[in-house]
Amino acid sequence: MANLPKIAVLVSGDGSNFEALVQASRSGVLQAEIVGVVSSRAQVPALERAARLKVPARVLNLKTFPDRDHWDQALLKTLEEWKAEWVALAGFLSLIGPRVLSAFEGKIVNIHPSLLPAFGGPGMYGTRVLEAVLAARVKETGITIHRVTGQYDEGEILAQARIPIGENENLASLSARVRAVEHEKYPRVLNDLVWGRLTKTNPSGSPKT
Ligand code: GRF
Repeated sequence: MANLPKIAVLVSGDGSNFEALVQASRSGVLQAEIVGVVSSRAQVPALERAARLKVPARVLNLKTFPDRDHWDQALLKTLEEWKAEWVALAGFLSLIGPRVLSAFEGKIVNIHPSLLPAFGGPGMYGTRVLEAVLAARVKETGITIHRVTGQYDEGEILAQARIPIGENENLASLSARVRAVEHEKYPRVLNDLVWGRLTKTNPSGSPKT
């Protein structure tokens, strides 16, 4: 797999997007190598997925480090060891520290299950986002892929996809539809990004091939 861009994935929970990225890199939809996955929590399903998919995995739980700076250093060391060039957050719940941010400036991306800036920011993660979307009774929602900064859910928006909300939508049905769109979109947008094909005139990524 020489010369393919190297991507590390950061997770904290289920890891369904992580698995979608691995499958896409194996099918060629994402022409990049997934070099490893870092989880901020032990014993999460994402780590079982990593074992099954035979992707190197490491747990770096902030609580097991003396402070955020040591954790930031350990994450940077892991990414360097794997020779990662890009970092894709997929349900990662910790803020990225300044060392990793500056080493990977502009090369860290995140996926969020709403049309940012709506339903984003501190505390807006996991099912809370979709619960808030349903409670607001909006007619459509969507997903956002954006560059990562030192703040939650900020940074340049790279792509969005819209998802209409049905009359009888509930948390389970909306979650399933949002995840399906995420799994289809994230690999394609990352592929365009790492190959320099994501432009202002092609903001949502290349069409399906
Ligand atoms: C996704 O909805 C993603 O947008 C958000 O966290 C969720 C992660 O899901 N950042 P999974 O762990 O990939 O299944």
